[in-house]
Amino acid sequence: MLTNDQLSQWDRETFLHPSTHLAQFARGEMPNRIVTGGSGVFIEDRDGNRLLDAFAGLYCVNVGYGRPEIAEAIAAQAKELAYYHSYVGHGTEASITLSKMIIDRAPKNMSKVYYGLSGSDANETNIKLVWYYNNVLGRPEKKKIISRWRGYHGSGLMTGSLTGLELFHKKFDLPLMQVIHTDAPYYYRREDAGQSEEDFSRQCADNLEALIQKEGPDTVAAFIGEPVLGTGGLVPPPAGYWEAIQKVLKKYDILLIADEVVTGFGRLGSMFGSDHYGIEADIITSAKGLTSAYAPLSASIVSEKVWKGLEQGTDEFGAIGHGWTYSAHPVCAAAGVANLKLIDSLGLVANAGEVGPYFRDAMRQAIGHHPNVGDVRGEGLMLAVELTADKETRRFLDPALLTGPKLAAALLKRGVIARAMPQGDILGFAPPLCLTKGEADIIVSAMAEAVTEVFG
Ligand SMILES: Cc1ncc(COP(=O)(O)O)c(C=O)c1O
Repeated sequence: MLTNDQLSQWDRETFLHPSTHLAQFARGEMPNRIVTGGSGVFIEDRDGNRLLDAFAGLYCVNVGYGRPEIAEAIAAQAKELAYYHSYVGHGTEASITLSKMIIDRAPKNMSKVYYGLSGSDANETNIKLVWYYNNVLGRPEKKKIISRWRGYHGSGLMTGSLTGLELFHKKFDLPLMQVIHTDAPYYYRREDAGQSEEDFSRQCADNLEALIQKEGPDTVAAFIGEPVLGTGGLVPPPAGYWEAIQKVLKKYDILLIADEVVTGFGRLGSMFGSDHYGIEADIITSAKGLTSAYAPLSASIVSEKVWKGLEQGTDEFGAIGHGWTYSAHPVCAAAGVANLKLIDSLGLVANAGEVGPYFRDAMRQAIGHHPNVGDVRGEGLMLAVELTADKETRRFLDPALLTGPKLAAALLKRGVIARAMPQGDILGFAPPLCLTKGEADIIVSAMAEAVTEVFG
């Protein structure tokens, strides 16, 4: 067995970590955590720490850690048939069964599933499908994609462009020119403190319509949005938002991509966020919760309407020129089948719907009154605590103070992992969907202590 010291040294010498301050890491100025195991909502590291993972990895380990049912399904599939491709009509029992299970759970207008390996690649696929669709329909000019500031859709070339967070653009020459951004549905940060949620939603929809008119409706192909903003700050939509936005999209014949990489398969207490908010999407993006991250797998779920366009396209132009070696990888698909069965048998969707509001209310009660806690918001098992310098004016804290990361560190000292979100001083919580009320209480009391430590 290697010692931590040897592993740590190799880590710093050879491993280029994602979303990390590379120079500080290589110089040993920040810690490395080597994770060795996990069970339920807890992970363990090589230093003997047992931590309550209140962000489920990257809000993906929805069934919790250490589920033998999924591990065994992966092993059985690897022994029987580790790989075959899915090009030219090939499939496996696992990939076909999973497709049926997804469509059975998805909103009624959904028709077919294309598989990739990550949320980013699924959204890349979705944009290609939208462009293909409009070319088939004879609308070659209709290609621009509207996403929202603070949206997160991945970090590829197109998906990094769709992402509306500065960190993912700067120094990468993004966004690409086909992408335009519109307002974030971020009610807490509205300019007019007296504005109602409904009025704010109407303003977002009016601004979207003005943007479409400015760009030219015939040039705008699709709008992409997460039902609840995730990485941009865990922001549930204000009342009436999705209704108002969909009205505008319908008016200009613009497709809607619901990015459900985080919200798909139960996180909001509904199987899909689209069901939760009455969103009628043309394409749904899924990843994370599809396998609870036991194996990498994403799904682009296309509606019957889009499917009809794809069908027409291949009849006119031949086989579709899109696919990856690992599309519908049997081992990942087997993980997906076992995971969806487990979500059902453990009743995790209902649990998220019950423990989520309990967790949010307990958090509000414990710290909502604190002068530096501006907002405690959430839906299902997505919860955010937004910090402020002044509760009354909602003034931002000085970003140089790194208050969010300090609070996350204070929580970690108390055995709880939360995520300091990348833009703004916001602490994010998105625990496994098997979280109990008792475990929610542990997080809340650690948070109350951490807030006192950081702010006094
Ligand atoms: C809503 C959303 N879309 C897409 C992605 C990208 O997924 P991945 O990191 O698997 O590429 C994420 C990742 O957090 C996400 O939250």
